[in-house]
Amino acid sequence: MNVCVIGGAGYVGLITGLGLAELGHRVVNVDIDAAHVERLNRGDSPIYEEGIGPLLRRHLDSGRIRFTQLLPAGLVDSEVVIIAVGSPAQDDGHADLSAISSVAEDLSKHWDEPDGRYRVIAIKSTVPVGTAELVRSIMGRQKREGEDFDIISNPEFLREGKGLHDFFYPDRIVIGSDSERARAVIKELYEPVIQRRVRFNGEEPPGSEPVPLVETSLASAQMIKYASNAFLATRISFINEVAWLCERTGADVKEVSYGMGFDSRIGHAYLDAGLGFGGPCLEKDLRALIKISEASGYDPQLLRSVLERNQRQVEEVVARVKEAAGDVLYQRVITVFGLAFKPQTNDLRNSQSLEVIQRLREQGATLRAHDPVALPEARALDPGAAYIDDPYEAVHGSDALLILTAWPQYAELDYGRIKERMASPCIIDARNLLDGSLLRALGFSYTGVGRGPSRASTEPRIG
Ligand SMILES: NC(=O)c1ccc[n+]([C@@H]2O[C@H](COP(=O)([O-])OP(=O)(O)OC[C@H]3O[C@@H](n4cnc5c(N)ncnc54)[C@H](O)[C@@H]3O)[C@@H](O)[C@H]2O)c1
Repeated sequence: MNVCVIGGAGYVGLITGLGLAELGHRVVNVDIDAAHVERLNRGDSPIYEEGIGPLLRRHLDSGRIRFTQLLPAGLVDSEVVIIAVGSPAQDDGHADLSAISSVAEDLSKHWDEPDGRYRVIAIKSTVPVGTAELVRSIMGRQKREGEDFDIISNPEFLREGKGLHDFFYPDRIVIGSDSERARAVIKELYEPVIQRRVRFNGEEPPGSEPVPLVETSLASAQMIKYASNAFLATRISFINEVAWLCERTGADVKEVSYGMGFDSRIGHAYLDAGLGFGGPCLEKDLRALIKISEASGYDPQLLRSVLERNQRQVEEVVARVKEAAGDVLYQRVITVFGLAFKPQTNDLRNSQSLEVIQRLREQGATLRAHDPVALPEARALDPGAAYIDDPYEAVHGSDALLILTAWPQYAELDYGRIKERMASPCIIDARNLLDGSLLRALGFSYTGVGRGPSRASTEPRIG
C-alpha cells in the first residue's frame, strides 16, 4: 500500500514509517522539521533506537521510504494517512491539539492535489476523546466522510528504546472506527504483523497466535491509550509508595517487588521503585486524563495522587543528596550518571534526571554529568554545562555520585577506580541499579530507594 505518515521525523512517526516500509509498503514521511527531514534523507537518524540506522539506510536504498516537508508529495497515491504529530501538555495539563488541527487543515486543503481519492486517516497521536470529531469537522467542510475519507483511531503503545521491536511484535493492535471499510484497510496494512510473518533483528516472534486485534468505537480506542498509560504510571507510583514503607519498616523494596511480580495477576513490569516516571508520555497523558476527568465533572482523586507521588520522588532524591553530602550544597561537586528519561534512548523530554540536576544547581552545587548516548542532545539543550564522555573522568573530585538512569553499563563499571577519583565515596542510587553490599564493602556510603541498610544487593534470589 502507499502510506503517508505525518509527523514522520518524530519518534512514533519515524518508527511507524520504517516499520511499514519493512512490511513492504511504500511510505512517505512528512514533517515540518526541515533539519530532521534533511538528516533522515541522508540516512542519519535523529533518534537513538536499537536497529534504526540499518533499517533507515536499507529502505532509503530500496526506495520504500522517503522524507519530505511537502504534504502534497506525501499524499500522491496514498491510501492511508497516519497522523503521528505531538500532543504535548499545555501549562494547565490539557493536551495541546494545535498540531493535530493544523494537520487537519492542511489535509483538507491539499486532499485533491493531485488526485482526489478515498483515504483512511489514522490518528496515532495520543489524543482525548473528541479529537477525531475535531478532525472530522475540519475535513467535513470540504470533503465527504465515507466517500472521500474515513477516520480511525489507532493509538500507539511502543516503548522508546524498544520501539521497532514493539512495532513488529505488538501486544495488541487497537482500531477504533465506525467504518467497516476503513477497518478493512487498516487490517490489510498491518496484516504481516497481525499474522506474525515478520522477523526483526533475527528474533522469533513472541508467539504463534495472531496479534489480538481490538476493534472498538473511536472513543474507546482513544481512552484505551490514556487508561493504559495512567495504569502504568499508577504501578510506578504504587511501588514508590511501598518503597517508603519498606524504609520505615526495614523491608527491601527490591525483594518485595520481586516477590509480588510472580503473582500472575500482578507481573514484574513497571514495578521498579526509584526516581519515578518521566519522558514524553506518562506524565503528560496522566495530566491530560486528569483534565478530561475534571471537564466531565468527575474528581479523579486516584489519578491526582499518582501524579503527586511522582512529583515527590525528585524532592526526595534531592533531600537524600543533602543528607549524604551535607545540607549546604554550595560548591559541592555532584556527578550524575544518566540523563535520558530511561535507558536505551537519547530522549531527554521531561527527564526526571534533568529535574534533579536543576534542583541541585539552584542550591549552588556544581554538576558534572555523563550519559552513554544522550550527551549530544544534552549539550544542545545546555551548552555551558559539564557533560563528560568518560564516566571515570566524570566522577573526578566529586562529593557524591547519583545514578539517575538505569543504564545497565553503569553496573559494569570498576567502582574501585571510581572511588579513587571521587573526593568523597558516596553513591545515591535513585534507580536501585547497583549492588549496595559490594559498594559498602569497597568503602562507599551507598543509599538506594526503599532498601534496608544491610541488604541492598543487586538481585533477590529464588530458592
Ligand atoms: N514517544 C513515545 O514513546 C510515544 C509512544 C506512544 C504514543 N506517543 C504519542 O505519539 C505522538 C507523537 O509523539 P512523539 O514522541 O513521536 O513526538 P515527536 O515530537 O518526537 O514527533 C512529532 C513530530 O511531528 C512533527 N510535526 C508537528 N507538527 C507538524 C505538522 N503540522 N506537520 C507535519 N509534522 C509536524 C514534529 O516536527 C515532530 O517531528 C504523541 O501524541 C505522543 O503522545 C508517543
